[in-house]
Amino acid sequence: MNLNREANFLEPEFQILYPLVATQQNISCWVARGIANLIRHKAARGEMCVLGLATGATPLAVYRELVRLHKCEGLSFNNVITFNLDEYYGLSRNDANSYWQFMHRHLFNHIDIKSENINIPDGSVGLDDIEEYCDSYEAKMASVGGIDVQLLGIGRTGHIGFNEPGASVFSGTHLVGLAEQTRKDAAVDFGGIKNVPTLAITMGIKTILNASKIVLLAWGAKKASILQKALEGPIGPMVPASYLQVHQNVSIFIDHKAASCLSSVTSDIKN
Ligand code: PGA
Repeated sequence: MNLNREANFLEPEFQILYPLVATQQNISCWVARGIANLIRHKAARGEMCVLGLATGATPLAVYRELVRLHKCEGLSFNNVITFNLDEYYGLSRNDANSYWQFMHRHLFNHIDIKSENINIPDGSVGLDDIEEYCDSYEAKMASVGGIDVQLLGIGRTGHIGFNEPGASVFSGTHLVGLAEQTRKDAAVDFGGIKNVPTLAITMGIKTILNASKIVLLAWGAKKASILQKALEGPIGPMVPASYLQVHQNVSIFIDHKAASCLSSVTSDIKN
């Protein structure tokens, strides 16, 4: 993988990039530059750029670099519309653990995006209104032409967004139950597993696969085993991320530790 080449998210490709020497930081900066190039490319044509965004530890360095590009290199988010993948159900946007807070803390408070162009599922919608709300989230995405680039992390269950094992490939935005492993992984943030919500609103697999371009990031050994299943195993609902194998334009950026169970990497090292 050549991090000196400019990242270009305009050309379709399916690629798994696992640099032997580059760090999470280098790769994240490279991905951020790819996003910045797309934003500028669209701005020059008078077009909006629609980004699908993720939360969690994985994309943090990408957001840090996007903020730096805004502050130091004049990157404007004036023509950017964002849709977040998911939100815990039952949390209001004011809750410190809400993804609304997360996104504002790490990105939106530091850039010039218009607040009306930020879309994050509302975890406080009443149960009776959920279906209609989720349909409206989908309709809003469609009304702006769909997502240009969707950023993804991967959970240890193989989830993308909060689509846990068993997820349907035909699902749009919907209410889901969280897997026990996912709740355990979030327990530290919530001060114990008993405080972690059991439900979430998430874009569905179909929503994610509708994006023109998908960029999945993963760092560290704890993601190695599930990445092997997702990228080299059978495609199916038990590993929701495996559905990415059917998309024509996916870039998977992982560090060397996360790549350690991939057979292609193992043979690279042996050769
Ligand atoms: P993480 O979570 O970025 O905190 O590892 C990823 C995910 O659950 O999708």
